[in-house]
Parts: sequence; C-alpha cells; structure tokens
Amino acid sequence: MKQYNVLVVGGAGYIGSHMVKFLLDGGSGVVTLDDLSKGHRDLVCGGKFYEGSMDDQALLDKIFSENMINAVMHFAAYSLVGESVIDPLKYYKNNLYGTLELIRGMIRNGVKNFIFSSTAAVYGEPVETPITEEHPPRPTNPYGATKIAVERMLRDCDTAYGFKYVSLRYFNAAGADESGKIGERHEPESHLIPLILKAALGERENISIFGTDYPTPDGTCIRDYIHVNDLARAHSLALEALFAGQPSAVYNLGNSKGYSVREVIDVAGKITGLPIPVVESERRPGDPAVLIAGSDKIKQDLGWKPQREDLETMISTAWEWHKQGKY
Ligand code: UFG
Repeated sequence: MKQYNVLVVGGAGYIGSHMVKFLLDGGSGVVTLDDLSKGHRDLVCGGKFYEGSMDDQALLDKIFSENMINAVMHFAAYSLVGESVIDPLKYYKNNLYGTLELIRGMIRNGVKNFIFSSTAAVYGEPVETPITEEHPPRPTNPYGATKIAVERMLRDCDTAYGFKYVSLRYFNAAGADESGKIGERHEPESHLIPLILKAALGERENISIFGTDYPTPDGTCIRDYIHVNDLARAHSLALEALFAGQPSAVYNLGNSKGYSVREVIDVAGKITGLPIPVVESERRPGDPAVLIAGSDKIKQDLGWKPQREDLETMISTAWEWHKQGKY
C-alpha cells in the first residue's frame, strides 16, 4: 500500500484537480469523488474516479471498502459569496450537512485524517491586518458561516472521536499548473483573474472594477493571491503532519502580500500583451477593502514556503491555461 491513499472529494474542481495532480506526481494513491455539479471530469488527470455525492452513505461505504483510503481531503464546497446570501440553505445543505455526512461515513469506516478547505471569509470584515488565525471569526455571509460551522464541528469530532484534521483558510487562490493541462474553469466565472484574461482574449467586452473609492492607495480592493500549487503543497504538508502525529490545527494560507485590482489588471496587461478594456463600476456588496493573510503559523509549524509568490507567475500560468480555450 502506498503511504498515502487519499480520497479527494471535489477533485474535479479548480483546487481539487490541482491537488489530485500534486498527489499523483508525489507518488500517492488518489481516489476522486465528485458529483460534477461544478467540477469537470476531464480536469481529473489520474487515479480512480467515482461520480456521486459526499452525503451518499452507501457510496462512501463502497469507496472505503474498495480502496485502502487513509485520509480525506475535502474541496467539494459551494463558494460563491453572493449566491450564498441569496440561497443560504443551498450552502448549509452542501457545505455543512454534506460535510457532516462525509465525516460520518469516514468515522464509520475508520478513516480519521481529514484536510478541510476553509476560507478567509470566516473572518468577515477584518479588524486588523494582516489577519492571523487568532482574529475573531465573524463571517459576514452564509458561505463563511458554513465554513466556520464545519471548523467547530471538526473540533468537537476531534474531542469525541479522535478525528484528526487540518483546516486551511485560503485567501485568493490563483494561477494554474505549469503543465497547462489543468486550470480554473468556473461556470459562471466570477473571479478577478480569469475574468481579466477573458477580457484580454476578447471573450468579454471589458473587466469591471468593483469600486474605486476604497481606502487603499489606488482606491481599489486589495487581496492576497496564492498560487494553487502552493495551496496543494500546503495540503500535502498538512497530511504529513497528521501522519506524524501532530495535533489538529487551523492555518491561514496566503502570501502576506496584497495586490490591488488595478495592479492585477496592469500585470495581466503586461503578461498578455493585449489591451484589457476596463470599466469602473459600483462596489460589490460585502467586499472588504483589504484582505491580507498572516501565514507565519503554517510556515513555523509545517515548514510551508510559497514557491510561486509573485503575481507575475500566478497570472502567467493562468494565461497559459486560458489561452488554450479549454475552460
Ligand atoms: N473584482 C472586480 N471585478 C470583477 C471581479 C472581482 O473588481 O469582475 C474584485 C473584487 O471586488 C475583489 C477582487 O476583485 O476585490 C477579488 O475578487 P474575487 O471574486 O476574485 O475573489 P474574492 O476576494 O471576492 O473571493 C475569494 C474567494 C471566495 C472567498 C474569499 C475570501 O473566491 O470564495 O476570497 O476572502 F470567500
């Protein structure tokens, strides 16, 4: 048996598919479970694949009995903040109830190592920057609320059942695998970098800047972008830590460096060499002005070090993917 045989739930999505590739490249066994409601089968570049829902207990029993799984990574959440405000029950059902059922299936099958995709959205409007893990969690939307609720559930499951987990609070995932084989493909797309690249390709008329009157140097929102493969590496280190007997933990994942919306557009313009028409629009409700991660804890505890922390690398790898038109 390989040292790690990982069930990647949501492995056909953007971050999940990069995780699958990262694990396979590192020699781990990989099984993907995805209901394909958001994910894409062709983004799963290897391992075994099961189509279905993470709350399907019979399917979970089948997967665990057919494969020697010893850890689960969970990427199968809905993640659109705006949609979560309009339809919160959709989010509570999938993100909270779905995760509860997944954990129930794991515990019944004796699998107790879990890596959870959490989010900076658990913090809400920051009261201090950079945001450390000690910052009070005060989510301002149902999406963030479902994630912090899961974290609470994980803590209780650790106490009650010895269920070990690492929860990773991502800031803004960006970029694509250097192979050009996988990348970001959301339908509909709402994230800044892919939308900018679509505008560069002429597939959109322009990119809207949501708000130019924020209290930031150029008036646009600042975010902390992190390359998707640096995220994947952090998951892998978290897994190693759990297997080495380290206790459950919660970590931020960002580069502790912020870029404004205008800076992102400027860098994308240089990398693509194409005009990117810009329209200045109203603020998008619920967007904090600045979100920057304090990521010292994961560096100290797990030795995580970003390898692609410059925005140019994130945008150029995304561009290599988007240029191919496979999204
Ligand atoms: N933006 C624009 N125009 C666009 C799209 C985005 O100006 O067309 C701006 C947003 O206002 C924001 C920045 O670009 O300031 C980044 O927006 P994204 O939608 O790419 O990402 P968010 O920061 O809103 O969201 C990300 C994740 C969420 C997560 C959140 C937590 O996608 O799942 O970070 O910080 F909840």
